[in-house]
Amino acid sequence: MSLTRVPGMLFGGDYNPEQWPEEVWEQDVRLMAEAGVNVVTVAVFSWSRLESAPGVFDFGWLDRVLDLLHAHGIAVDLATATATPPPWLVREHPEMQPVDAGGTRLGFGSRQGYCPSSPVFRAGTVRLARAMAERYGEHPALVMWHVGNEYGDHTVECFCEESARDFRRWLADRHGSLEGLNTAWGTSCWGQHYTEWTQVEPPRKAPGPVNPAQVLDWRRFSSDALLACFEAERRVLKDVTPDVPVTTNFMSILHHLDYWTWAAAEDVVSDDAYPDPADPASHVKAALSYDLMRSLKRQPWLLLESAPGAVSWREVNVPKEPGLMRLHSLQAVAHGSDGVMFFQWRQAAYGPEKFHSAMLPHGGTDTRQWRETLELGADVRRLAEVAGATTSADVALVLDWDSWWGLEAPESLPSNRLALHALLLSWYRPLHARGIAVDLAPPGRDLSSYKVVVVPNLYLCTAEQAANLASFPGRLVVGPFSGVVDAADQVHEGGAPGPLRELLGVRVEEFWPIPDGLTQQVVTPDGTRLTARTWSEWLTVDDAQVVARYRGGPLDGRAAVTRRGHATYLGCLPDDLTPLLDEVLAGAGVTGVTGTDLPAGVEACRRGAYLFLLNHGAAPATVTLPAAGTDLLTGRPLHGHVVLAPRDAVVLKPEEIS
Ligand code: GLA
Repeated sequence: MSLTRVPGMLFGGDYNPEQWPEEVWEQDVRLMAEAGVNVVTVAVFSWSRLESAPGVFDFGWLDRVLDLLHAHGIAVDLATATATPPPWLVREHPEMQPVDAGGTRLGFGSRQGYCPSSPVFRAGTVRLARAMAERYGEHPALVMWHVGNEYGDHTVECFCEESARDFRRWLADRHGSLEGLNTAWGTSCWGQHYTEWTQVEPPRKAPGPVNPAQVLDWRRFSSDALLACFEAERRVLKDVTPDVPVTTNFMSILHHLDYWTWAAAEDVVSDDAYPDPADPASHVKAALSYDLMRSLKRQPWLLLESAPGAVSWREVNVPKEPGLMRLHSLQAVAHGSDGVMFFQWRQAAYGPEKFHSAMLPHGGTDTRQWRETLELGADVRRLAEVAGATTSADVALVLDWDSWWGLEAPESLPSNRLALHALLLSWYRPLHARGIAVDLAPPGRDLSSYKVVVVPNLYLCTAEQAANLASFPGRLVVGPFSGVVDAADQVHEGGAPGPLRELLGVRVEEFWPIPDGLTQQVVTPDGTRLTARTWSEWLTVDDAQVVARYRGGPLDGRAAVTRRGHATYLGCLPDDLTPLLDEVLAGAGVTGVTGTDLPAGVEACRRGAYLFLLNHGAAPATVTLPAAGTDLLTGRPLHGHVVLAPRDAVVLKPEEIS
């Protein structure tokens, strides 16, 4: 099943024709056709050009754009244009501009200038979305709706009075009563007992640490408030155009939005990914976020935006060396994307993003960038048959936003050195290096299809989640500081690992975070020495076998890693998780997709029957092939082994399906 009506892989980018005179549009579509562009995203920031006063619409220019694109065989991912409210609306309703935690109302002149809870903003977006759907619902170019843009990019939360009222409604719904709220927030601490709902506020800037339970609910609320904006538009679109898929572009692994909940509300998962070309390990982080995208709905997804070269928003914006745009694009396809799309088609001449790269750069068609755009278009066409193919993984990494928010609450934890993204990566990195397919999963999902489940951290763990993990029949690995608090951020009776205690057979008596610059040695019975730098725990073993012990330091001789049945617990965080992981993988019979060791820097992914091999390293690499077949990218036959130049890739179609 394809994501949209467009057959094969999607190839294209954000197109902003309103930034150019109409005579340029003709050239645009001609060049798009030359590059093999089959879809563009249009009208993302066009509200002020489409509605000049309340209900006064000017669709003429957009009609011409869509007709022109369609005439050249280019489909449209049409934005509802609501990502930036127009100046007239903000002028009329200055109260809809977001307010920061310090109480400052932010000004106009950028984008996403809205309070997510503003009724004026929401009513405006719904009116425009309806008008767009009624106008273009039947347009033959339309293949997908693109709601808003990168929710949570600039505006994550708003601390205004309207948001405070919305927060109180949300809290009443969650906690039932003010007494329920007082209990859940533990307001007996620091004298915060509330007697009226109007006393309850967002966690604004305060003299000292703010109640972490209040902050946790605020994070939940803020994700939901933005989701409500998306859903309000989605309802209108579904009402008018029930068969057109709806997406909103995600931002890889984003702290602020619970993408499990968000993905359930959309038809197609799409992502904007900007691995930093200056970071030689950026492809590993990208791979992790692509695996999340694939796991969100357990189906192919779409790379909706990426950079052909440099971005414009880092401190130093490094371009992509020749071949890197292609390699990064193929990587997304390897991890389940049914297309390769960019920000943006034509490089802007003005505005904050005028130095951001584009498929068609300032220099025009006699440029390296344009030649690489043409070559990539051809490569993407060669991969058409891969569209729709799915990935099956033996290993899952558990990720939960509630727990993430609790873990990274400021000023109330034993250590601020446990950051979830880094924890995920510390497990993902060795799996990725071995070419092992990995899904991400929320802790409540049915995990029975996996052989190994790794929980890098589950600080906040409910009884239901613990029961789900306990019922998992495969090998389970649980990282430190898990099972500490319940859904209200209150410490489980008896301490960590709380509801996981019986499953793991251990108790954490004390947390022993390691100060910066110090280390704690950990040794396995076969003499393998591991080093922990951030975290250790004083464990008491009730009913488990000791897999590794601390050596030296305050915990000398105590259990550091334990195992009960198939469940392994780490009370520490070794730098190198490979020895522990390898043992678990071997026990579960999990191997990489090629069946042999991969050279450093080579990434291997299987998607359906197709095997992607990508060389992210700086040296040529030789990979032993598990089967003979054909390289889809070049058409050449492959067997035995293949030598990959730096930044080169092959997509092996095995003989048996040729
Ligand atoms: C995101 C946004 C785009 C643009 C790019 C720049 O993808 O959605 O509008 O700002 O970033 O990298």
